[in-house]
Amino acid sequence: MAKKFYITTPIYYPSGNWHIGHCYTTVICDALARFHKLLGEDVFFLTGTDEHGQKVEKEALRRGVTPMEFVDPLVSELKDMWRLLDVGYDRFIRTTDEDHVQAVQRIYQKLYESGDVYKSEYEGYYCTPCESFWTESQLVGGKCPDCGREVTRQKEESYFFRLSKYAPALLEHYEKHPEFLQPKSRVNEMVNNFLKAGLNDFSVSRTTVKWGVPLPFDRKHTAYVWIDALLNYITALGYGSENDSLYQTYWPAELQMVGKEIVRFHSIIWPAILMALGEPLPQQIYGHGWLLIGGEKLSKSKENARPELTDPYELVKRYGADAVRYYLLREIPFGSDGEYTGERFLQRVNADLANDLGNLVSRTQAMIAQNFDGKLPPRGKEEGPDGELIAAAEGAFEKVRAAMDALNAPDALAEIFAVVSRANKYIDETTPWLLAKDPAKRERLGAVLYNLAETVRIVAILLKPFLTRASAAILKSFSFDEGAGFHTLSFGGLRAGCRVEKLPPLFPRFDVKKELAAVADMLAAKSKAEEKPKAESGQGKPLISIEEFGKAELKVGEVIACERVPKSDKLLHETVRIGGEVRSVVSGIAKFYTPEEMVGKKVVVVTNLKPVTLRGVLSEGMLLCAEDGQGNLALVSPERPVESGGTVR
Ligand code: MSP
Repeated sequence: MAKKFYITTPIYYPSGNWHIGHCYTTVICDALARFHKLLGEDVFFLTGTDEHGQKVEKEALRRGVTPMEFVDPLVSELKDMWRLLDVGYDRFIRTTDEDHVQAVQRIYQKLYESGDVYKSEYEGYYCTPCESFWTESQLVGGKCPDCGREVTRQKEESYFFRLSKYAPALLEHYEKHPEFLQPKSRVNEMVNNFLKAGLNDFSVSRTTVKWGVPLPFDRKHTAYVWIDALLNYITALGYGSENDSLYQTYWPAELQMVGKEIVRFHSIIWPAILMALGEPLPQQIYGHGWLLIGGEKLSKSKENARPELTDPYELVKRYGADAVRYYLLREIPFGSDGEYTGERFLQRVNADLANDLGNLVSRTQAMIAQNFDGKLPPRGKEEGPDGELIAAAEGAFEKVRAAMDALNAPDALAEIFAVVSRANKYIDETTPWLLAKDPAKRERLGAVLYNLAETVRIVAILLKPFLTRASAAILKSFSFDEGAGFHTLSFGGLRAGCRVEKLPPLFPRFDVKKELAAVADMLAAKSKAEEKPKAESGQGKPLISIEEFGKAELKVGEVIACERVPKSDKLLHETVRIGGEVRSVVSGIAKFYTPEEMVGKKVVVVTNLKPVTLRGVLSEGMLLCAEDGQGNLALVSPERPVESGGTVR
């Protein structure tokens, strides 16, 4: 039976502000999944979206749509992004999927019945963007220790997870399985800062968040979004459902790849939950580094200082999926942070893809077209540097495999490109253009071109997990099976006489300066276009929460008397009945309404403004008006009859 390989990415918040940093985890996982498939393993690759929680609920409310209406198009965008980048997952799970929701409920029920989830009261600090709770001592300068943003104090009835109980078992697991959390640098942080310091039970339900999975034993509560999210790794396989055959086949995961900022959730909370469920732990959690701009984590919300092209859709449109994948997989030292710049991106594409690989392919194919009418000549006897080239091509696989076993895609690609360089050197050594001039050397010319073609084929097979498009195009142009796996890697796979097509250049070569200037112009034009509608729609005021809005008390009133304020051409003095109460209100509407017109009108009054005296007249409220853009005012009144005293909200 084939070895199995279950690999997961974190599930993404539907933020919509997708940037190239977001693509990092998933492109690496895709390359690993493809690599293991080519090894003939039974691979399951999972990704998806993390859609519940306060952040989504609030954003939907702000936009005046339901949370589902808000997330749906963002999920489609994310799927488009993966399609553009050739990310070939086996399941895309949404935490709003019915099977996930039901499984989360069954899991909570199980933990509640076993006593690992229990009711208590929560008091602490909450960071909404990170969806994380913190104790006072964990805050840094009163702010969230993860993102540095404001936190809010919260107190409420909540269900807790008995995390404290699992600290000893977790420590033991870390000691027995040094491979569990990688790279090593992350282990110290987790073990010393968190595990050894002792773990506290923590709140795993909310009553204030409606957009979440309702707990089956207490429907006022919804599941804490992080627990809901972490469980996706097993619910996606049918854990907690009637059909858990995928779970039986694939769990535990061989690899769960995450960014370093979410290692704490994955290396402490996640294994503790699995222990509480009596399920095996994943073999490895890998916490990779970040793409940085100007030394800071690339992130749209933080608006990194230097303008760079970070939009994945635009990057793929300009440079192609292979170039974006190549940059991510080759350039960032694995496990560490890496600075992202458009300049380095273009240099990489030019040097490795357009020059080294592109030239090798086009020179080989051009010479076969010119000298052998596009038909591959036969393999000759080995001489000169042939042995060295063949050894490089045949020996690459083991080196690539060792690098990929260490999850090191940059090293794996460096090994493949070492073969490309060796082949380019072979062209210089064998000078096929001189051989072509001498009819006596035709056989040798054929042998040289065969060796080059075969090296290119092996390179293309090795590149399949990384450059999905170019590898397929190259194999096809040599009439070789595009679906071929790593079992075809021994030298001599190409059949003499097969058709060799001449491909158009695989990668364009960029004039780096010109391209950077074009990108800068495009970004400037885009930001100008984005600024305009903002200013025009008057979205100048900062966002407020529903709680802040709720501080204003608005009521329906009826104007029972009205007169002009003496010596003022702007002000009217209204007497307004609001339920059982009568108030004096002064409004600046004398230019738009006569006192006679006002009497009998139903109006909306802000009733909890501090009273003021205007031109000697007491004003105990404010009438709401709409302005038409030219300074003309119209009173706001209920669209259907409402008794005075009715609340406006
Ligand atoms: N929803 C949570 C994960 C829940 S998993 C049970 C989340 N989502 S996220 O959308 O914020 O991030 C998704 C992935 O993108 C994470 O692995 C994160 O580390 C990665 N990246 C986001 N910005 C990044 C960079 N600038 N650089 C590299 N990866 C980063 O976290």
